[in-house]
Amino acid sequence: MSDSRPNSAAVSRRRRYAIVGLGSRHELYQDGIETVYARQAELVGLCDANPGRIELARRRSARHGAIVPPGYLAADFARMLAECRPDVVIVTTTDSSHHDYIIRAMDAGCDVITEKPMTTEAANCRRILDTRRRTGRRCRVTFNYRYSPPRSQVKDLLMSGVIGDVLSVDFHWLLNTHHGADYFRRWHAEKKNSGGLFVHKSTHHFDLVNWWLGAVPVSVVATGKREFYTPEMARRLGLGGPHERCHTCEAKSRCGFQLDLSASAALKALYLDHEGHDGYVRDRCIFRPEIDIEDTMNALVTYDTGATLSYSLNAFNAWEGYTIAFNGTKGRLEHSIVESVYVNGTETVQGGVAEDGVKIRVIPLRGAGYGVQPWSAEGDHGGGDRLMLEDIFLPEPASDKYLRAADERAGACSILVGIAANRSMATGAKVTVSDLIGELPTPDYAPMPSRVADLPMPAK
Ligand SMILES: NC(=O)c1ccc[n+]([C@@H]2O[C@H](COP(=O)([O-])OP(=O)(O)OC[C@H]3O[C@@H](n4cnc5c(N)ncnc54)[C@H](O)[C@@H]3O)[C@@H](O)[C@H]2O)c1
Repeated sequence: MSDSRPNSAAVSRRRRYAIVGLGSRHELYQDGIETVYARQAELVGLCDANPGRIELARRRSARHGAIVPPGYLAADFARMLAECRPDVVIVTTTDSSHHDYIIRAMDAGCDVITEKPMTTEAANCRRILDTRRRTGRRCRVTFNYRYSPPRSQVKDLLMSGVIGDVLSVDFHWLLNTHHGADYFRRWHAEKKNSGGLFVHKSTHHFDLVNWWLGAVPVSVVATGKREFYTPEMARRLGLGGPHERCHTCEAKSRCGFQLDLSASAALKALYLDHEGHDGYVRDRCIFRPEIDIEDTMNALVTYDTGATLSYSLNAFNAWEGYTIAFNGTKGRLEHSIVESVYVNGTETVQGGVAEDGVKIRVIPLRGAGYGVQPWSAEGDHGGGDRLMLEDIFLPEPASDKYLRAADERAGACSILVGIAANRSMATGAKVTVSDLIGELPTPDYAPMPSRVADLPMPAK
């Protein structure tokens, strides 16, 4: 499967995509391929470990009026590649299985689009980088957060040099107890599946900082703990301790964290109806003792530019969103978003109204600070998902001065901060990022202000 296959060089030919991992996230890609981008793309194969979700995805194709692709179980992934001959494999399985599909797809001559985090372990990161180099295939990591208009705008402001060189960053991300709790219900709650939130979730945030600064991480020191999603908290909240799952829980009527799978047609169809195949339970108790990920994390990161990052992630907060401040040689850039987060199945919107919740402010070293009108767009993840799909599926996407399309190098530089943070938490020591995989790749970054250029003397 390479570009030498019949027709593969024809510009007008639709690109052939296969998707492995047919849970909730894959829908973005399947819908994109079979609706908005149906003239540029076709879905030729579907693969999952769960036969129920394969059939569900095939029915989705039928609803789109598309040719229904054949479905393959995970064990038949290689056969799917041989029979369906995709140009590109989209990987939307659980995090710790990404590397296996990324590597096998590239080895079979396919390009890859993978969801974040690219992988969860340093050794598998190295294997992906080596496979990419050996095969010459492309590996794209879909950092949709970069495409959110206000975050692109922050990149634009930093590139303009309005605050000079960034010397330090303070970044604090809050997950509320609807969205945050969801990471403690299922596979994310075990480090062996997700790498913990420092990898699974913070990969977005570390990538943003790497990309905003145009920098490569050098060292990480971190702490973390779990004190909210614990059996003890279930007792303190009057639940008599943790239970197995919401669906059968005798305490569900008095639990403010209940996820009712049967009340949501989408969740029931995707998860509850197919538990019998693989035992994947979507609504496990968020207070159960087996959880081994943290809900409170702090990291100090240094970069090759000399910049430093002070970062925190908290998963049981009163609101959802983040605050970030860039401290530069000419001033400070402050940005914050209070997000509206709808958690499927809970019928809940909590937080601020996203539009009102976006703030960007520049404060020069001297003189008054001023607000900047935030850029905006419609759609999921602040409009970022839609813009990213354009970038992925249009054969000739508009040139992008922010270089938002990320590959395996950016995928590596973001997860390695989280993996280093996990190691630092475990050992108490500062971790040098390049020690994790040997040579660290340098992603392509848009040019940033020069750190050695002359600076205006601030007024007295
Ligand atoms: N960029 C974003 O904003 C964003 C948002 C949500 C999810 N994601 C990512 O998308 C991926 C999927 O997340 P999700 O929420 O759809 O999870 P999910 O649990 O809904 O779906 C995962 C699917 O993978 C299948 N699967 C698990 N192990 C497999 C294996 N070894 N082989 C084949 N299939 C396997 C499961 O059966 C399931 O259908 C994750 O990596 C997640 O981090 C990214």
